[in-house]
Amino acid sequence: MSAVIFQTQSVLIVALMLYGVSKVLGKRKNRFQHIRTMKLAMIWDILLILQIELTRGAIAKASKAMENTAILNIHVSLAVATVLLYIFIYSSGKKLDSGDESKRGKHKVLGLCALTTRIATLITSFLVL
Ligand code: HEM
Repeated sequence: MSAVIFQTQSVLIVALMLYGVSKVLGKRKNRFQHIRTMKLAMIWDILLILQIELTRGAIAKASKAMENTAILNIHVSLAVATVLLYIFIYSSGKKLDSGDESKRGKHKVLGLCALTTRIATLITSFLVL
């Protein structure tokens, strides 16, 4: 049961992120909506990881080497990489927003990397069920 709730949230988070990125890559740019949407998606994502950990002890389970399958390792690594990327995206995004254009390239690359790892996390989450 809880798996369905987690998966649903995960799909919604990815949809929210795609919407937020479309606000700066599309024709009609809206920086304010981009920032607001991405912040919400990142906070929700971290809350989702906490929910999974608190209800299932997922991290403890995943770190038991004996039961680890390759796909579970890949899934957990992708999830960790995504959250680490959020930190750098947030700091470069804040600087970009305050006018430091030198951070644009970095923010864009890191942002697109995080989007890729987040979608890959979602795909692999269906394989570890
Ligand atoms: C996972 C989260 C995020 C992703 C994937 C992401 C991705 C992107 C991408 C792809 C662009 C377009 C860059 C370009 O074409 O020049 C962009 C622009 C931007 N982002 Fe983010 N971003 C994220 C979070 C944030 C956050 C948290 C902030 C602020 C605190 C932020 C601030 C900005 C700003 C100011 C721009 C420039 C918009 C403009 O051209 O007016 N982003 N972001």
